[in-house]
Amino acid sequence: MKVLGICGSPRVGGNSDVALESALEGAKTTGARTEKIILNQLKIVPCQECEKFKDDGGCFIKDDFYGLYEKIKDSDVVILSSPVFFGSLSAQTKIMIDRFQCTWRAKYILGVDLFHKKRKGGFISVASSERQDFFDNAKSIVKNWFATIDCLYKDELFLTGLDYKNDIFKFPDYLDKARRMGRGLVG
Ligand SMILES: Cc1cc2nc3c(=O)[nH]c(=O)nc-3n(C[C@H](O)[C@H](O)[C@H](O)COP(=O)(O)O)c2cc1C
Repeated sequence: MKVLGICGSPRVGGNSDVALESALEGAKTTGARTEKIILNQLKIVPCQECEKFKDDGGCFIKDDFYGLYEKIKDSDVVILSSPVFFGSLSAQTKIMIDRFQCTWRAKYILGVDLFHKKRKGGFISVASSERQDFFDNAKSIVKNWFATIDCLYKDELFLTGLDYKNDIFKFPDYLDKARRMGRGLVG
């Protein structure tokens, strides 16, 4: 089993990143192979709405998106972790998701089976406030994206009260929950 973790926070070692690491740790205990990608370290430009489509779901822009696309294709489990920024996903996460417009078109308009297998998905999100509606906003985008990449939305973890970088360490139960999530997604 290959588990791909995607971190959408600009803060390396921040709350989304630590929660994702814990989920990957949990996945590893089952023998799964894990890899983590930090979107902020990739060069992925926003979708340019160029209306030029590759029929295989790929995009004409040559940047780090293609490598990520291949890794997702190769994965059995995807875990996305994003902070809540202004009531939704971080910009890094949304830019990555928008680039799947070509995939969306190939799948839903042309009916191409791009991914050849279903994978499982988990969504982690962290925020300073307790506002459930912010997580709902983020979740609705992620569910749409997961469907596009043939990923079943299997589990979610919404962690509140996290503001500063190391805040998550004040909540050991959050880390336990993330580990359990990772284990469960593989199992
Ligand atoms: C640009 C920006 C926008 C934010 N917007 C919200 C928000 O709408 N609601 C909220 O509860 N927290 C918001 N926060 C706080 C972050 O969600 C919080 O600090 C989170 O723990 C950051 O996660 P990270 O350490 O993984 O980056 C915002 C932070 C930033 C930098």
